Amino acid sequence: MRRLKRGVLIVFEGIDGAGKTTHAKLLEEWLRKEGYVVSLTKEPTDGEIGSLIRGHLRRKDFHPATLALLFAADRLEHTEKELKPRIESGEIIISDRYVESSICYQAADGVDAEWIESINKWALSADLTILLDVDVQTAMKRMKDKVKDRYEEWGFLERVRKIYLERARNKGYSIINATSPVMEVQIEIRKLVACLMEEKQ
Ligand code: TYD
Repeated sequence: MRRLKRGVLIVFEGIDGAGKTTHAKLLEEWLRKEGYVVSLTKEPTDGEIGSLIRGHLRRKDFHPATLALLFAADRLEHTEKELKPRIESGEIIISDRYVESSICYQAADGVDAEWIESINKWALSADLTILLDVDVQTAMKRMKDKVKDRYEEWGFLERVRKIYLERARNKGYSIINATSPVMEVQIEIRKLVACLMEEKQ
């Protein structure tokens, strides 16, 4: 088993339907085959706060700032109880969403972006953030049979995508066109991760 001196945090971001979950799983399988200790995780989590959030995303009853606070609370528990110990022990963590989801989604829902950043300021900075970029039409087609929650609506996702792209360009995140065939996208992702692993060995 290959364990790094210090673990790394790789984060997938993007609008609903971009393919984050598929690519996170494929990346996990590949890294395991390469002999690394990997853990795959996601936000909202399956913990108490994450489950509470999911229920309210369906019911659309909470104020957007309340959701921002809940997402931040879910992230705090996730970071302290899972991410930090795993990083300390040299694991590679792949997270399906992290802080950028809060900044982009809750800002698109009218919450002040600086305030969102401030309530998340203790969060880890990812070693690699990959934005899987897809147009909203493709994303909606991919989700066609799914029961839609609060955020899975055309105009809203257009706003989220715009914020994601602006922030990714400013922060230097890796942007991958996720409309290409799955394995083509995955190869691009693996190239980025291979570079990161070389740096961290
Ligand atoms: P999603 O990744 O779709 O989770 P799942 O597939 O397990 O239901 O996340 C649920 C929704 O929550 C999604 O529309 C994005 C949104 N979200 C935020 O608005 N802010 C956040 O901080 C996070 C983590 C997610």
